[in-house]
Amino acid sequence: MNNLKQIEVLIYENDIATKVIELGKKITEDYRNKDLVTISILKGSVLFTADIIRNIDLPLEMTFMSVSSYGDSTESSKVVNIKMDVDINIKDKDVLIIEDIVDTGITLSYLKEYFIHEKKVKSFKICSFLDKPSRRLKDIKPDYYGFEIDDYFVVGYGLDMANKYRNLKNVCKILP
Ligand code: IMP
Ligand code: MG
Repeated sequence: MNNLKQIEVLIYENDIATKVIELGKKITEDYRNKDLVTISILKGSVLFTADIIRNIDLPLEMTFMSVSSYGDSTESSKVVNIKMDVDINIKDKDVLIIEDIVDTGITLSYLKEYFIHEKKVKSFKICSFLDKPSRRLKDIKPDYYGFEIDDYFVVGYGLDMANKYRNLKNVCKILP
């Protein structure tokens, strides 16, 4: 699709489609009789969000937030900044963060503190499309994840490199 970078498919769209059904079922069972609010982190988790929430058979509320993470490079700036906060009251709600990938864990460990201590949510869990545990700097793991990957920089299905490639249907790794 783009000949500027060498890319190779890592996860195919049909495997993603199977996975979101499986995750949705698990979340549906776990959140029955709870007050589920999904909070999707823009922009990377938008495609995953659209697929996962349609597989959660519960009267959930959904909202979004935007935080700064990577700039146009593949290394984390390591500073988390809330650019856009949630627009609904989430106090005493069962919050499920929907994220594209947990890499160093800096973003999510910051958000966990923020939601628990400042927003006073009832419960806090993470559903991440991808998990890249080899790069972890913070002691945090997603409660639900689609696929665990090795230390590649990946794009597609919402994930970007310098804001491009989000629209790829398959997840691809950028070849060094
Ligand atoms: P963390 O705070 O290091 O866990 O980084 C989280 C954010 O970094 C994610 O929400 C992504 O936006 C971005 N990120 C980390 N690894 C990748 C990758 O392989 N491809 C695209 N974005 C990534
Ligand atoms: Mg990103």
